[in-house]
Amino acid sequence: MATKVVVIGAGGREHALVRALTRGVKWGDPREVVCIPGSAGIALEARCVPSVSDVDSLAKATIAEQPALVVVGPEAPLAAGLADRLRAAGIPVFGPSEKAAQIEASKAFAKEIMQAAGVPTARVRVFDDRESARTYAATAGACVVKLDGLAAGKGVIVCDDSTQAFFAVDELWRAGARLLIEERLSGPELSVIALCDGTDAIALPAARDHKRIFDGDQGPNTGGMGALCSPRDATPELIEQVMREVIAPTLAELKRRGTPFIGALYAGMMLTPEGPRVLEFNCRLGDPEAQAILIRLAADPLALLSACAVGQLKAQGFLSTRRPAFDRRTSVALVLAAANYPSAPRPGDKIEGLDSLAPWVPGGQGEDLWILHAGTRLENEAFVTAGGRVLTVVALAEDTKAARARAYAAAARLRWTGMQLRQDIGLADVQA
Ligand code: AMP
Ligand code: GLY
Repeated sequence: MATKVVVIGAGGREHALVRALTRGVKWGDPREVVCIPGSAGIALEARCVPSVSDVDSLAKATIAEQPALVVVGPEAPLAAGLADRLRAAGIPVFGPSEKAAQIEASKAFAKEIMQAAGVPTARVRVFDDRESARTYAATAGACVVKLDGLAAGKGVIVCDDSTQAFFAVDELWRAGARLLIEERLSGPELSVIALCDGTDAIALPAARDHKRIFDGDQGPNTGGMGALCSPRDATPELIEQVMREVIAPTLAELKRRGTPFIGALYAGMMLTPEGPRVLEFNCRLGDPEAQAILIRLAADPLALLSACAVGQLKAQGFLSTRRPAFDRRTSVALVLAAANYPSAPRPGDKIEGLDSLAPWVPGGQGEDLWILHAGTRLENEAFVTAGGRVLTVVALAEDTKAARARAYAAAARLRWTGMQLRQDIGLADVQA
């Protein structure tokens, strides 16, 4: 009988998980992949089960499926305790408990763990009242003001000087809030994501996100406009250093506190002249990093994520003989966003060109080209925009230049009114 696996979520990252799990059958057992709630795009290749997004509904719909494994994509249900609910029902879950998910949900908690574990990060002061935050900001100089808690990327203001910092405090402050004012670091950023089983971890190939909406890193922050996997400066030595100095001690500290971390631990790093420093942790795969990473996975994610879920990476040989293989080529993921993203993405624009990338069309989808749905829905049997980030186009090729060429050629076949696409994803790597 086929093993049933449920993916929770509805975005481009979850579409990539569904695709990787589905193609994993060539290395593993037969399986049925179900996505809750999924989307019209994901439904083209997996059964989707509608559900509203609160934890009660998600838990109920998932438990009814009686899957052998659940993979939770987004942070919100994790921070609200979905994994705990499923584990209590006896279902193995790839995704942290509510307590371990605090590493993303509370930046103050993340700093506390890092300090206890000796993990290199920016110096910080934490404030529970606005007046003392203002007073400190008034002489802080260049710094970063952050709101504690999940803020969907809108809770961080990078400040050039004390005046900006003072106003940033007022902008982010709300009743009952907690603010962090952090030393401002500089350097390229890198997402280092590790698959964790509570004790041990396996590094995924590192990826570089492009967070701003416009070319040249201009304009407002977004959820991420594109990713390169892996950039040239993500050397094996650097990844080993991050695993040793960041991931391992963080896992050990969470385990010591009785809240072991099972799932994807995402270290948002800045490569400063003084060495790599953690900017933030996420308790999940990144989006669009996951899309760029998973196209390179040349092993069955079902066996691997199942081993994480039951705390057996080592026992099942994934740290030695069964270490997962990754395609050595380079991938580029482009996010195609709706008009007016990120402030007020316009829904309902008709998406043209998807048929021209069908698997049977020359240059269409295949092992080295994925078209993944994020914010789309069907209207009169045609896909229209229904969210900020609409599609991800992912291409795999010999080097960054070739992967960019392939991804941009595919993206050029897609269009809708007001479509936004950065032209410089991975470009710095080609020019370096
Ligand atoms: P975060 O949500 O904490 O990752 O912050 C969002 C973005 O703000 C990061 O991707 C960085 O570009 C920037 N940022 C955060 N913390 C710092 C810092 N200490 N120094 C410089 N930039 C930062
Ligand atoms: N791409 C950044 C994130 O997933 O948080």
